[in-house]
Amino acid sequence: MRASFARHYPRPLANLVKLNAENPKEQSAGGLRADGFRTLEWDGRTPLALVDVKGRIIAMLAGRPDGDSWDSTCNDVADAMLSAGDTLGPAQPGRRGTHHTVHVGVSYGGGQQEPMNLANSKTKSNIARLLLKHDGVRRVVGFASSALAFYAPKLYHHAADTLELLHDRYPHLHRNFSNSVYPTATFNLGPQVVTLEHVDCANLPHSWCSIWAGGSFDPQTGGHFVFYDLKLMVEFPPGSTILVPSSTLRHGNTGLPHDAKRVSITQYMPGGLTRWVRYGYRPVKSLTPEERWRIDGPPGSRIEWAVGQWSLVGELLEDRLHCFGAVA
Ligand SMILES: [Fe+2]
Repeated sequence: MRASFARHYPRPLANLVKLNAENPKEQSAGGLRADGFRTLEWDGRTPLALVDVKGRIIAMLAGRPDGDSWDSTCNDVADAMLSAGDTLGPAQPGRRGTHHTVHVGVSYGGGQQEPMNLANSKTKSNIARLLLKHDGVRRVVGFASSALAFYAPKLYHHAADTLELLHDRYPHLHRNFSNSVYPTATFNLGPQVVTLEHVDCANLPHSWCSIWAGGSFDPQTGGHFVFYDLKLMVEFPPGSTILVPSSTLRHGNTGLPHDAKRVSITQYMPGGLTRWVRYGYRPVKSLTPEERWRIDGPPGSRIEWAVGQWSLVGELLEDRLHCFGAVA
């Protein structure tokens, strides 16, 4: 039965992961500190931008919406995800860590002939259905999508344009959420989500993946978001959201005490989807060098374009105006 299922439904190529260390292991905050990592004490509320030497916003600690109801929303989501994870039995070690995952949305890559909806086992499909219509989940993912529009308007605008073309052409492809621009998501169900050092190499390299954390844990003790390239650990409280180029920057979490519960929801843009649309709804390998030159420009120009999709701090208001016709 399982083999038959696998033949009919490719595994979620949008979620390919590359581990950077040879044998990545769960690392404690204390261990990383001893290795020279700095700690950023973040309250999970105050928006903070990570800016490069040229003033480009490369990642965003977006925080959370104002209002008293956010905590109860996040608690409801975490409870729903933990309950769903319980139905799957003990989690087995995977490439990212030891926790249950459910991938949902649209994917394209590897041996797929064209973009398609990700498929799951019957049990995980039922979990996906439950979570996709959960009001709290919709609020969480909607906030992340809004934060992307607010802090990276050019990234949002490009994603929205690309996906509109994709869905116009392939109406059978599902949108996960009507209030989120992201085409693909992963529910990390726990019971204790601690990801090992990795990059999500199938995501569009400069795009920002959104990560929301939930559960009950002390963010000063564990669950930090680790930027390995920056030797930086960020306290990542439950209920908060961060946006990072997960295909470009190595990342993971610090370990948690045994009794801690942690779940997360990630949303992302598979690079294969944007290439499929940009190259005229056909695979990259079908293009001649001349066609690629015509579409992509001379060597190096795509990288320049991609980096230019990150807003400069001083031009963020102008970028919002340009992309959306109004300053939010
Ligand atoms: Fe990741």
